[in-house]
Amino acid sequence: MKLQVFRVSTLFLLFGLFASSIDLVTSENVLFILPIASKSHKRAYEPLINALAARNHQVTVVSPVKLGKDRENVREIVTNTSIFDRFSDPLKLRAQGTLSMMFQSYDFVFEACQRAYREEEFLSLYKEKFDLVFLNAFMNDPFYGFIYKTGAPYILLTPQAAPTSLTEFVGNVMPSSFVPSAMLPFRDEMSFKERAINFLFNLLLDLYVGATMNHKIEAVYRKELGEDLPSLDVFRRNASMIFTNSHFTQTFPRPLLPDVVEIGGMHCKPAKALPKDLQEFADGAKDGLILFSLGSIVQGNQMPDSTRKVFMNVFSRLKQRVLWKWETEVMSDLPSNVKLSKWVPQQDILGHPNLRLFMTHGGLLSTQEAIYHGSPLLAIPIFGDQNLNAHQAELGGFALTIEILDVTEEDLETKIRELLENKKYAENAKKLSKVFRDQPETPVERAVFWSEYVMRHNGAHHMRSAARKLNMFQYHSIDVFAVLIISLLVILWVVKLATVKIIKVICCRRAKSVEKKNQ
Ligand SMILES: *[C@@H]1O[C@H](CO)[C@@H](O)[C@H](O)[C@H]1NC(C)=O
Ligand SMILES: *[C@@H]1O[C@H](CO)[C@@H](O)[C@H](O)[C@H]1NC(C)=O
Repeated sequence: MKLQVFRVSTLFLLFGLFASSIDLVTSENVLFILPIASKSHKRAYEPLINALAARNHQVTVVSPVKLGKDRENVREIVTNTSIFDRFSDPLKLRAQGTLSMMFQSYDFVFEACQRAYREEEFLSLYKEKFDLVFLNAFMNDPFYGFIYKTGAPYILLTPQAAPTSLTEFVGNVMPSSFVPSAMLPFRDEMSFKERAINFLFNLLLDLYVGATMNHKIEAVYRKELGEDLPSLDVFRRNASMIFTNSHFTQTFPRPLLPDVVEIGGMHCKPAKALPKDLQEFADGAKDGLILFSLGSIVQGNQMPDSTRKVFMNVFSRLKQRVLWKWETEVMSDLPSNVKLSKWVPQQDILGHPNLRLFMTHGGLLSTQEAIYHGSPLLAIPIFGDQNLNAHQAELGGFALTIEILDVTEEDLETKIRELLENKKYAENAKKLSKVFRDQPETPVERAVFWSEYVMRHNGAHHMRSAARKLNMFQYHSIDVFAVLIISLLVILWVVKLATVKIIKVICCRRAKSVEKKNQ
């Protein structure tokens, strides 16, 4: 009884606090700049957009994809900057490799940015006043110039774990010795060789991007906004915060300054009831349900027929039911345990009690959803950070990986059966789910708090580490080491000179005294 009273009173207290904190919030103008964004980037940020709008802020979102239905306090500006529909062929993407794809895409990214700058609705934003700007920190660099024009503080949103090439501008260098690059298949514990590769990779990528990209990016915004605009580095060092789409349970613990905050998993939520046909299919999967989806960018129906048949033949030999996200809903040779669906409410399926396995490209959002819902993975990485996500999931003991370029029926079937029959994968997935969910507040609440914090304190300049002002040599104390080593060498040299001199003097004296004796 006493306990109950306590509970009720705490509830009132909490409600009181909550209500009063809502009273304090004034309505601010918030702008999301996401012209270069895939559907999944947008889906990652959508919970923050909604939460800010729900707290009565006026939110403007610039992006190439609409959020769906209109909502209160959200204004959407749709720009002609969709570039991700170029990346729909899974095998071609896989064969090309991520880095080469990234650098090739930069030219049409710049073109798209230039187009956005000239669109009327975008231009009209110059006339407005914003209290906070968010920038999608992936290929959107030409918009730093625009942010400068608004004069508002800004927060970077990263669609993956923020790389050191970004965080180093706010003084948060990720040590190459235990933070693996998202492009490399390493974990936090690395051998000497891996550490060397990781270090050189980060260094060379920085140098390459610095030498080839920065002036092109500056050229785009200077052409649109004026030649006197500061350099990219100046803008990058002016970020108020970085929201990194990661969580240490998945992407390894790493040192983060207070202005770099992990908000990974904002979009994760408990499963709801499914549409009728899917609900029946999932409920009826007495031996378990498998979900197969390659995500929103890659189109399953672009895979060659030979590869499709490999999957189909293996599925037909399983007793589990398979739900396959497939864009054209016809397949003549469909086995009875397989259902195709153009659209899949992924989390509602992943949270279904009959789900046993998720076959995925291993995009970050999908991986986070699988972790949240505690589902084992069969990862089929295609490009970008998917290799790393797959590798990390494998190291986490809840996943196996398939190479789509040379997948065979035997390999696929062995791995699916191993994942279904060996209990350890499901157990590890459940354990990870538990620690991923165990947080002091939800990732969205955290993101909202820090967003409003930056607005309350006009850019929160007091959070900035002095490291922002240091160059690489100062940051790593290389200059101090250099002075120490030079001093040491000088001392050694002086000591050596002195010793030689002393020895000479002694020898001379001895020689002289010997001479005297002999006389
Ligand atoms: C969008 O941009 C492309 C490339 O410049 C152009 O071909 C297309 O006509 C544009 N679409 C619209 C609706 O303006
Ligand atoms: C830096 O950010 C502040 C807001 O926090 C802004 O007023 C200022 O103009 C920015 N300066 C540069 C060089 O971007």
